[in-house]
Amino acid sequence: MDQLEMKKQAAQAALKYVQPDSIVGVGSGSTVNCFIDALGAISDQIKGAVAASKESERRLSALGIEVFNANDVSALDIYVDGADEINPQKMMIKGGGAALTREKIVSSLAKKFICIVDSSKQVDVLGSTFPLPVEVIPMARSYVARKLVGLGGAPEYREGVVTDNGNVILDVYNFKIMQPMEMEKTLNNIAGVVTNGIFALRSADIVIVGSAQGAQVLV
Ligand code: 5RP
Repeated sequence: MDQLEMKKQAAQAALKYVQPDSIVGVGSGSTVNCFIDALGAISDQIKGAVAASKESERRLSALGIEVFNANDVSALDIYVDGADEINPQKMMIKGGGAALTREKIVSSLAKKFICIVDSSKQVDVLGSTFPLPVEVIPMARSYVARKLVGLGGAPEYREGVVTDNGNVILDVYNFKIMQPMEMEKTLNNIAGVVTNGIFALRSADIVIVGSAQGAQVLV
C-alpha cells in the first residue's frame, strides 16, 4: 500500500468522529486534503467548517462546505489535522505546509484533536526525521535564527515561502526535542517568534494511523 492510500485510509476513518449538524475544525496538508474529500461526501450532514489555511478554505468551499471565520465560533467538537511527526505521547511537529499558526489557533478551539497520519510519521523523539518549523516576523528573522543556534539547532530560512499571516518560516535542523512542552514554551518566548511547530501543550487526543494493516486508532 502506498503512502497516499494510507493517508486516505486514516482520513476516511476520521469521518466517524464528525457529529451531524456540527462545525468541523479542519487543518491542512495532503492528509487533510483526503479528509476534505471524504467530508465532501457528507457535506449535507454538517453545518460547515473552520479551516486552518487558505488552501483548505478554498478546497472546502469548492465542495460546497460553508467556511466559518474562527472569530464567529466559540468552540468546536473536533479538529482533524495531519502531522509531520508524532510521538507515543501524541505530541507532534507540525508546520511542514507553513500553516502552523492557524493550526494552533483552530486546534485550541476544539474539544478533541484527531490527528490523521500514515505510519511514516510515527517517531519516538520529536525532531528525529523532520526539521522544526518556526513562524517568524520577517524583521526578526536573523535575531531568531541566532537564538535557535544558541539552543543547539541549525535554522534554515524557507526561501520563497510567506505564510497566510505574512510571515516567514525558519526550519530548525539537528534539533532532537527531548522535552517538548518546555521547548515549546522556550521558543514561544523568543521575541519575533509567532508560533513554533511543537504541538505538545495541546497534543492530539486521538491518533488514526493509516498502515498496510488498516487504520489503527490510538486513544
Ligand atoms: C501543515 C501541517 C501538516 O499537517 C503537516 O505538514 C502534514 O502534512 P501532510 O499531511 O501533507 O504530510 O502541519 O502546516
